[in-house]
Amino acid sequence: MLRTHNCGELRINDTGKEVVLCGWLQKSRDLGGMTFIDLRDRYGLTQLAFNMEADAGLCKQARSLGREYVLQVRGKVAERSNKNPKMPTGDIEIIVLEINILNKAQTPPFTIEEETDGGDELRMKYRYLDIRRDSVRRNLELRHKMALETRKYLHGQDFIEVETPVLIKSTPEGARDFVVPSRVHPGEFYALPQSPQTFKQLLMVGGMDRYFQIVKCFRDEDLRADRQPEFTQIDCEMSFVTRDDVLKTFEGLARHLFREVKGIEGIVFDRMSYHDAMRYYGTDKPDTRFGMQFVEINDLAANKGFRVFDNAELIAGICAKGCASYSRKQLNALTDWVQRPQIGAKGLVYVKCNEDGSFKSSVDKFFDQQQLGTWAEAFGAKPGDLLLILAGETHTTRRALGELRIEMGKRLNLRDPEKFACLWVTDFPLLEWDEETGRYYAMHHPFTSPVKEDVSMLETDPGKVRANAYDMVINGVEIGGGSIRIFDRPLQEKMFSVLGFTPEEARNQFGFLMNAFQYGAPPHGGVAFGFDRWCALFGGSETIRDYIAFPKNNAGRDVMIDSPSPIDSNQLKELHLRITGVKADKAGKQEQER
Ligand code: AMO
Repeated sequence: MLRTHNCGELRINDTGKEVVLCGWLQKSRDLGGMTFIDLRDRYGLTQLAFNMEADAGLCKQARSLGREYVLQVRGKVAERSNKNPKMPTGDIEIIVLEINILNKAQTPPFTIEEETDGGDELRMKYRYLDIRRDSVRRNLELRHKMALETRKYLHGQDFIEVETPVLIKSTPEGARDFVVPSRVHPGEFYALPQSPQTFKQLLMVGGMDRYFQIVKCFRDEDLRADRQPEFTQIDCEMSFVTRDDVLKTFEGLARHLFREVKGIEGIVFDRMSYHDAMRYYGTDKPDTRFGMQFVEINDLAANKGFRVFDNAELIAGICAKGCASYSRKQLNALTDWVQRPQIGAKGLVYVKCNEDGSFKSSVDKFFDQQQLGTWAEAFGAKPGDLLLILAGETHTTRRALGELRIEMGKRLNLRDPEKFACLWVTDFPLLEWDEETGRYYAMHHPFTSPVKEDVSMLETDPGKVRANAYDMVINGVEIGGGSIRIFDRPLQEKMFSVLGFTPEEARNQFGFLMNAFQYGAPPHGGVAFGFDRWCALFGGSETIRDYIAFPKNNAGRDVMIDSPSPIDSNQLKELHLRITGVKADKAGKQEQER
């Protein structure tokens, strides 16, 4: 080893020891007679001290060193006269006897400290420098701990980790695939897996019984704070289980992770049907850290002469505690907020429940005090509260009200980052109708089993069939999703037919799975968790990028390695590809320049 200790471990009782440390020069301070350097490595910072009087040559050498130089120093541990209680090593310093420059460094393009002056793009371009910063390093350490504890727990439950292939077959269901052209088979393509779904089912047919994999998945979809084109799942599958067995097993995983990684005991899981989630929260991933559930008031407010309400399919609202003091300006701003295209409400009706028991609303022309009183009662509102009401088509109104609820939750500080509300959302619809293409799509995926009692409706009323599917939701984030699977060929064939596949299309795309079902497939079910999302949730961030060592930017680019990028014409030829359009010009130009 080039060192005897790391930069985070020396303490007061090491005083007097001769040590060798290696690390990066974080900062140096020149105080005339003395020079101090903070030496950094993965484990922390240690102060190095150089005394002009004791060794002028060495002190001058120290002053000549730049930021991020890689150093090896030999010296003696000494008690500091000026202790720093904020640093774990703040009681000591190293009186340096010898410096060895292991490598020089150019001045970094941004300061490598917590308070950095580097913008997002710059830090992504020099991600290896960003990783030297404490917060990024801590995030990667958290991720490692999560992976380690996940493996420990699942191993303890008899799961085994099996790797599944990365070059697979493209299918039209789900998100868009990333595809890889084949050189050996002209005109044919592999696809990168969106998830190992069919393979894990085949492992069950293979008798593996309990499988898991911490695995990269690839989806060519629009990026968001909680989405990356390549992301990681904790993918799991079990044989001979019911839905409740799966839920219990993975509540166990969640409890284990909360305990071992966050130090939180006593996590409990609520359960809520999809129907209730939509009805009371306007979303299938409700943040249940706070109440503010929707109250529907069609009975009380429709057909009283207010056209907006009279024409609405749904009139529903939330009660914001203690917000009756909102000014006209604040209410106007809130109205503008719900009318933004992203939220899409036509308008906002408010009712202030005044401290004196009277009401002041934006619809006083249409409703008298007694009527407003019945609304307040329905909401369980108290004097001082504010009712915020939206009306319109059911689905869009619920969605908009769901957004408003989250916004009010934020404003009222009800989304406490230290609190964790865990939930299984169950009983999703099996199918979703798409107006544009005029067909049903599987809400989860085509391998999800319908609820037993609903199977007969597959032919008569497919839209009503419930899925034996579940999502794990924590603090309003969809952490994972899964289902009990179809495991017999006729039902799988029926499912594909409801989804509009001809028998031939179904056979071409998923024949391998349906064939496997004919050789003794066990009943099985499973789940997959968004590993990056779970890390971000535990780390207290909404952005999964911060928990990925080398993420893509918002445009799906890796700006550090400059990818995606054109490939040269010989490579294209070998792959039997010809590019037309703008990219072709760009590629051609690059080729010429070469
Ligand atoms: P699903 O598509 O719901 O299910 O994915 C499971 C979980 O993966 C996470 N996730 C993502 N995370 C980051 N970026 C993305 N682009 C992204 N897409 C999904 C979410 C999600 O809950 N095979 C099924 C699981 C099963 O049925 O067992 C599947 O992939 O947290």
